[in-house]
Amino acid sequence: MKSKNIDISYPLLILAPLSNFSDNGMRVLSKKYGADITYTGMISIYNIIKNDGIDFKILPEERPIAIQIFGKDEELFEKATLILNNFADIIDINFSCPSKKILNSESGGFLLKDFEKIKKIIYRVIKVSKVPVSVKIRSGFKKGDKSYEKIGEICEELDVSYLTIHPRSVTDKFYGDVDINVTKNLKNRVKIPVVHSGEVKSYLDAKKIFQETNCDGIMIGREAIGNPWIFSEIKNYLINGKLPLKVPLDKKIETIKEHLNILINLYNEQYVIKQMKIHIPHYLKGYPGINKLNKLLNGVKSIKELLNLLTNFRFL
Ligand SMILES: Cc1cc2nc3c(=O)[nH]c(=O)nc-3n(C[C@H](O)[C@H](O)[C@H](O)COP(=O)(O)O)c2cc1C
Repeated sequence: MKSKNIDISYPLLILAPLSNFSDNGMRVLSKKYGADITYTGMISIYNIIKNDGIDFKILPEERPIAIQIFGKDEELFEKATLILNNFADIIDINFSCPSKKILNSESGGFLLKDFEKIKKIIYRVIKVSKVPVSVKIRSGFKKGDKSYEKIGEICEELDVSYLTIHPRSVTDKFYGDVDINVTKNLKNRVKIPVVHSGEVKSYLDAKKIFQETNCDGIMIGREAIGNPWIFSEIKNYLINGKLPLKVPLDKKIETIKEHLNILINLYNEQYVIKQMKIHIPHYLKGYPGINKLNKLLNGVKSIKELLNLLTNFRFL
């Protein structure tokens, strides 16, 4: 049994899975500005099975897309995979989420404590998947745990298409430094491609991670929120040595409208407003009108009001 190879060139730049943030707009724009793969936020296998996958709205412009799944029971992972075969370009399994709710349900990062279970889950997903299968982990459950070493072996043995490591423990959540020696060590130990996730905020960080760990790809998470240009900045620098230019305000407003229109074409007004309220402050952070904008955004109830606010932003 073998997972499929990913048919794109390395080094990979990937939009990280970001629950609540990585919507179609963020994915299309990340792709437009140079991401090689985009991700959904994690989705419960139980919900996939219950809805029979009908909720997936995926545009050609956001592919290749990895649909990330979490859960506990290997039989249900297999069932969900059969549904995802119709939607995903890659199926990614989450063994990394540190949220209390997920840990209490014995999913996500909780499973880093149970290698046998991890093996069973990956096996069942790869067995029925028609697309490449990848896995996302942290270094271990507790600080100092080296679970990634054993899981690396399991992923290699089962021929996972690539393995992403966020080199912090589950109990670290998002605090403290990422340990890039963990990424480097994992890369040295396995033959499958390794992707690093964590604290890549600039083209210089990207260069450092690629150079020091020899990894095959990097994920960009928080830095890509309101900043899809991070992907082209990294690519231009790595390929041509070109330094990034500041993105002008007009371009940012135009991009926000592009993001908005992508969502308008897919969802109802309420959902679109909810999403834009979380994205707009990130696109416009650092500008003098940002505090006022944040207050006014709170009261926005229609897309028309949202557009007016954007038009007047420079006068706030
Ligand atoms: C708001 C938010 C939501 C996230 N959602 C997910 C998720 O659904 N699945 C996942 O594997 N990781 C998730 N992560 C973790 C990121 O994918 C990434 O591994 C982590 O943020 C470190 O990368 P960064 O420093 O580039 O943000 C999330 C992180 C944040 C901040």
